[in-house]
Amino acid sequence: MPLVSMRQLLDEAARGGYGVGAFNVNNMEQIQAIMEAARETKSPVIVQASRGARSYSQDRFLYHLMLAATELYPEIPTVLHLDHGNSVDTCKSAIAMGFTSVMMDGSLMPDGKTPSTFDHNVKATREVVEMAHAKGITVEGEIGCLGGIEDGHGAGLDGLSHLTDPDQAVEFVQQTGVDALAIAIGTSHGAYKFTKKPTGETLKMDRLIEIHKRLPHTHLVMHGSSSVPKDLQDVINKYGGKLKPTWGVPVEEIQLGIKNGVRKINVDTDNRLAITGAIRKVFAEKPEEFDPRSYLKPARDAMKKVVALRMMQFGQAGHAGDYAPITLAEMANRYEGNRVPVVP
Ligand code: G3H
Ligand code: 13P
Ligand code: ZN
Repeated sequence: MPLVSMRQLLDEAARGGYGVGAFNVNNMEQIQAIMEAARETKSPVIVQASRGARSYSQDRFLYHLMLAATELYPEIPTVLHLDHGNSVDTCKSAIAMGFTSVMMDGSLMPDGKTPSTFDHNVKATREVVEMAHAKGITVEGEIGCLGGIEDGHGAGLDGLSHLTDPDQAVEFVQQTGVDALAIAIGTSHGAYKFTKKPTGETLKMDRLIEIHKRLPHTHLVMHGSSSVPKDLQDVINKYGGKLKPTWGVPVEEIQLGIKNGVRKINVDTDNRLAITGAIRKVFAEKPEEFDPRSYLKPARDAMKKVVALRMMQFGQAGHAGDYAPITLAEMANRYEGNRVPVVP
């Protein structure tokens, strides 16, 4: 099946009461890991690429790898999503490239660091919604800013400095018409999210629940949702790595989010940890190896294991065959005729 609209996946997830992991990719092995995990668990899937990933892979490579994925895994509804688009032009180029969903992250200025104004955010996001919906493409917006800055997206400071204001969230959705809304509830990108297991003081699930009550029909997105499991940290450190002790977002908190409107969960760091640990292990145990396949294959297997586990924990497992894909042209018609959500 061709790449599908993210809106359809999220509407179906809302109907089924589950969440869908959105996993970041930069290369072939990561795409293969996700698609194998999706096949094994029978999961619909969102594959996402950041601006950094697009530039690393010259995104034409990435796009054609994704076409190969749809050819080789025809039973898996697969979305290609732009993660953290920083401007209208970035979203436009992703749509021209064949992405079926884009994030316009207008919560930050185009530098990806400076918090923007509400008006800037609404204007840029609204423009992307108009352009994208005309082609049946899904749009994710963001209100409030994530903490941290370590991988180039985030307002710096801690995760609590720019929490989403529920009133603003309602206004933002009404004024932009986004399909999905990323909210800031205390998480940040990267490995160093929390210095100890998060509590209600540092991970504001109460805020998420309040936003869901005000916007019961909006698909919520949790960014910075890697769990940073200790076992993955330990493998890295055992084989020469130097990660400082750190905590991520516990899976049970994500599951609470899923019960309260979260339909898309962004995970990158956990896969980076799994890949790095597997490669370090081969380098440490077999220093004579120099065939890249000797370490890329274990790395791919390690990522597949993490992704498959998350697919089961988020509840998307078993749902790949639930529905037939709607074409982007039909999605465009539905937006035009106000016939979304796909699943009432
Ligand atoms: O948004 C953060 C993702 O982990 C992507 O990170 O910009 O380093 O590719 P990146
Ligand atoms: P993590 O760094 O927690 O994996 O978050 C990834 C993310 O939010 C990508 O947009
Ligand atoms: Zn993010």
